[in-house]
Amino acid sequence: MRLVTSLLYVSRMTLEPEEVAGGIAAIVEVARSRNADLGISGALVATDAHFAQILEGRRDAVFDVMASIERDRRHTEVTVVWTEDREQAFFSDWSMAYAGTAEYVDKKISPLLRGSLPEHERQGVISELLLLIQCFVREEE
Ligand SMILES: Cc1cc2nc3c(=O)[nH]c(=O)nc-3n(C[C@H](O)[C@H](O)[C@H](O)COP(=O)(O)O)c2cc1C
Repeated sequence: MRLVTSLLYVSRMTLEPEEVAGGIAAIVEVARSRNADLGISGALVATDAHFAQILEGRRDAVFDVMASIERDRRHTEVTVVWTEDREQAFFSDWSMAYAGTAEYVDKKISPLLRGSLPEHERQGVISELLLLIQCFVREEE
């Protein structure tokens, strides 16, 4: 069976408060169409201050899109916290699910960006973030 590369990154938003709504809509629109072309699926969560996004698909496609995302000035401190080759995608039906804002998720993202967690706690927070993103996306369906 062909493996799917899944990747999770977190980042700090640089959009001004008045730009957030329009900025996210523009990101999601481009993401949906480009990801569909490349066979990538995934999910994006935006809080007041941060993004967390899962991307999944063919390894080269995922890393190509990731290279664009890393250059994007609408966010900074883009930090890939997890990658795995999996047999099944989490979000195979979604070119880009958008899961809205969430304060709780923000509390998980901050320590990952600060790099302040010991390794065993970091793994726990990453697992929780993966689950949270899946739950949010289900609620929006
Ligand atoms: C938080 C965030 C998430 C993004 N997610 C995606 C995505 O999933 N797919 C995508 O094609 N572009 C995404 N983008 C937009 C890319 O950064 C980039 O603007 C777009 O892919 C065009 O690529 P190019 O600038 O290399 O031409 C995202 C941008 C941000 C800030």
